[in-house]
Amino acid sequence: MDRRKLIKIGALGSILGLSKSVFGETSNGILIKENNLIDNEPKKMIYPKIVSTWNHGMAANQKAWETIKNGGTALDAIEQGLRVTESDLTNRSVGIGGMPDRTGHVTLDACIMDEQSRCGSVAFLEGIDHPISVARKVMETTQHVMLVGKGAKDFAIENGFSKIKTPLPEVKAEWKKWLKEQEKIVKQPQINHENHDTIGMLAMDKDGNICGGCTTSGWAYKLHGRVGDSPIIGAGLFIDNEVGGAVATGLGEAIIRIAGSHTVVELMRQGASAMEACKETVDRIIKKHKNLEGLQCGFLAIDKNGSVGAFSVYNGFNFAYTDEKQHKMIDAHFDRTW
Ligand code: GLY
Repeated sequence: MDRRKLIKIGALGSILGLSKSVFGETSNGILIKENNLIDNEPKKMIYPKIVSTWNHGMAANQKAWETIKNGGTALDAIEQGLRVTESDLTNRSVGIGGMPDRTGHVTLDACIMDEQSRCGSVAFLEGIDHPISVARKVMETTQHVMLVGKGAKDFAIENGFSKIKTPLPEVKAEWKKWLKEQEKIVKQPQINHENHDTIGMLAMDKDGNICGGCTTSGWAYKLHGRVGDSPIIGAGLFIDNEVGGAVATGLGEAIIRIAGSHTVVELMRQGASAMEACKETVDRIIKKHKNLEGLQCGFLAIDKNGSVGAFSVYNGFNFAYTDEKQHKMIDAHFDRTW
């Protein structure tokens, strides 16, 4: 990116009213300061790196990092990292410990995408412990992108995945209690740092190749058959290795409506930084929804040079960041407070 383009983006930042912290880094790591002055000192890009949504990302990133350090690919890192969260029986929004739908079924959604734009996805999958690995299997061994429901389960079993009984007894007890209290209305979910929501992960290897994945049990007490954004390529996840990658978290219906992760990546293609692209995409969600009560959505993105951005509708969204030097949680920027 040349100086003229930086100045253009600086001006765009002023128009959008972005502060330095929102504006963040340009894609080549040159900082634009608060007053939009340009720091011409190029920063050394650091990769490999792993980012993933919410606190559960710390343990997942740890595993993903070890995988890369032990010679695994970015795709291996994504799969191994996300399996950690899927195996965590205390996690109520990802994997087999997840909350059921209103009929008591735990249905899981996941997808994966690599640097060659290959992708695989499973949705409405029940009783299989690692949807992210099934998604990878779909990607690598079939001509399809997405398998759902019984077909996805049959495929998983045929490929040696073990069956598991869900919901967990304690989750079932919670669901039964909820059923008793429930009037027959669809409540808006409160998606925040306490109930976490989806894990979406992006990994960049030492050569700068980007892969991503996401996995979730979806909206607790959803209608039977509901599928959110997480297994939908372009909504919950999108990678274009020429440009960057993005993952989404939050209310899937709102994310699907604007093809959220694809939108983030396309904005980066047009010159937006990872942070600007996430902000612009959140702005689009805000614009398209008259009622924003409880409508939390967030995007996490990485561009081709390793710059990272994250932005959400409401405060509370955070992400885990791991590279050679750091392993920490970072708060996303946001448009409004709860
Ligand atoms: N973002 C997860 C879901 O809506 O299912």
